[in-house]
Amino acid sequence: MTTDSIESRLKEDRKFPPSDEFVKHARVSSHAAYTTMYQRSLESPEEFWREETQELVFRETWKTFATWELPKAQFFVGAKLNASESCLDRHLHTARRTKAAIIFEGEPGDTRTLTYFELHREVVRLTAALSDMGVKKGDRVAIYMGMVPEAAISMLACARLGATHSVVFGGFSAEALRDRINDLGAKVLLTQDGAWRRGSVVPLKKMADAAVEQAPTIEKVVVLRRIGEHLAPCAMKSGRDMWWEDALSNPPSDAALKLAKHPEAFDAEHPLFVLYTSGSTGKPKGVLHTTAGYLAGAHVTTKYVFDVKESDLYWCTADVGWVTGHSYITYGPLSCGATCLMYEGAPNFPDPGRFWNVIEKHGVTVLYTAPTAIRAFIRWGDEFPQKADLSSLRLLGSVGEPINPEAWTWYHKVIGGGRCPIVDTWWQTETGCIMLTTLPGACYSKPGATGLPLFGVDIEVVKDDNQPCAANEGGKLVIRKPWPSMARTLWGDDERWKTAYWTQMPGVYFTGDGARRDPDGYFWVVGRIDDVLNVAGHRIGTAEIESALVSHPMVAEAAAVGRPDELKGQALVVFVTLKSGHVADKTTKNKLAEHIDREIGKFARPDSIRFADALPKTRSGKIMRRLLKEIASGATSPQGDTSTLEDLGVLAKLRAGDSDEA
Ligand code: PRX
Repeated sequence: MTTDSIESRLKEDRKFPPSDEFVKHARVSSHAAYTTMYQRSLESPEEFWREETQELVFRETWKTFATWELPKAQFFVGAKLNASESCLDRHLHTARRTKAAIIFEGEPGDTRTLTYFELHREVVRLTAALSDMGVKKGDRVAIYMGMVPEAAISMLACARLGATHSVVFGGFSAEALRDRINDLGAKVLLTQDGAWRRGSVVPLKKMADAAVEQAPTIEKVVVLRRIGEHLAPCAMKSGRDMWWEDALSNPPSDAALKLAKHPEAFDAEHPLFVLYTSGSTGKPKGVLHTTAGYLAGAHVTTKYVFDVKESDLYWCTADVGWVTGHSYITYGPLSCGATCLMYEGAPNFPDPGRFWNVIEKHGVTVLYTAPTAIRAFIRWGDEFPQKADLSSLRLLGSVGEPINPEAWTWYHKVIGGGRCPIVDTWWQTETGCIMLTTLPGACYSKPGATGLPLFGVDIEVVKDDNQPCAANEGGKLVIRKPWPSMARTLWGDDERWKTAYWTQMPGVYFTGDGARRDPDGYFWVVGRIDDVLNVAGHRIGTAEIESALVSHPMVAEAAAVGRPDELKGQALVVFVTLKSGHVADKTTKNKLAEHIDREIGKFARPDSIRFADALPKTRSGKIMRRLLKEIASGATSPQGDTSTLEDLGVLAKLRAGDSDEA
């Protein structure tokens, strides 16, 4: 969040109701209808969820709707289901059988359409192949792919077998992939030769090889050929690696084929996937989602928030490697029988008009993207969207960080032509699905406000003593009651699940975000108030960056902080003290930046690396991050109390220090 935009958000009081035309066709078409549904979801949750999950395939219904002893919770207890059946098989007996499930647009401009029938067929083939490789219920499978339909196919095939999938974003380095595979003990890795990104090839298989070298649990690596030998040569290790097409064309065993065609139903609480995300320590958290509650949340929110219609072409621009790609490219839309567009590459390739050309080319009706992308589009200029026909759009969405009113207004006017409602959606990897928004046909939007709670979400802004804040008073965003799609724990670390989320304020889930609620009941989420940054919509833990930096032999100490940034929301600034004998110069900066690329991934590269003789510390040796944040943001004198600072001279030196961008 930029300082300017925080100020403009505080002044913002415009309200944008949906047009009569939109309301006429909306699923929920009045504020009163939303309120009734919301109240019912809280007062009669069992009834509400029974009705709203009717389209999902439960082979056995639940005996108890919910039970919890926090921080452990269970939903739909006793139900049996297979998540892939709700996303695929259920459509095959309807007109959706031949409807497009995924329309793929490759970065080079190639396109491919998979109907529900074809998607089901591909998932069945991969399920059978995985089964013949020995993958079974309870095993873990890692997926390290770009934005290709096979990424969704992989997730669904794992779900079909009851193997827990873990998608690792293709921007992560080999080291980051290795650590995740090892934490999970994954048996199989699904990857591809390379992925297109801004005209270049990201050599995924090469990085996967480096990761698997040090990941002894991996028995098989299946490689999709997306790029080809000439640009993405792959060293295939005999006995371990196999091409995707070979794995699928080997005739499956009868048992595997039978299991793939008629999959087993699993317990509601069977682990569906683990997705790693950043927290306030150096070690990423493996957020675990289970089957029924997660699927129900993704399904119901997709249906109502995006108001999905049979005729829609829905495009979520997130990467499948993040939770948005799980809930709103794969499980949510497919369980609703929607047609999803999947775009492989960068928004500005071959030029900054690419998104708008894709919308025109395919006739996209619902667009779900991130504020950081919107701000980049603004910078690139209106001429690009103006050249394209965007009249097919009827609804716009935003996710990942607060959307500043300037970006909101531009999105509404230039992309939505003033006619499309905007749904800002607040949620987290841990929440599984959208928690706050404005249902598009029912509620007006306010630029910069996220909106109102969704079904079953008992959410509040509270003070440190857990008492509710007054209207417009800033505080901590907490969720008072468990909800079906919430994470169940952190992989292999129940204790961290408890301490990270449930102990700050006893009995409630602490989101890590700061917010306020205005007199209309609208939530305005300000951003993280813990040691987590949101850089261009990517969640990055400061401790993760620091521990990567101090693992470099030149570094004695490091501190990472955020600085407001016009484009990225927050920029990453690191302060580094070097061990004696090392020179604080450009070459060292480059070496440290490359080290971060290697340890985490290029997306986590600091925007600025600043050297310091010492970091400001309290007398007890704690780094005073608040002061570093101020310095990173350009403050010339300390704003707050510095009485606990050990050596005031450190601050003066830091301010005077070299501030070359990394
Ligand atoms: O700080 C909030 C911000 O993103 C965090 C969650 O990040 P992640 O788990 O990576 O999931 C991102 C996609 C759901 C939140 O704690 N955030 C997400 N959406 C919004 C947001 N902040 C403000 N407004 C939003 N709409």
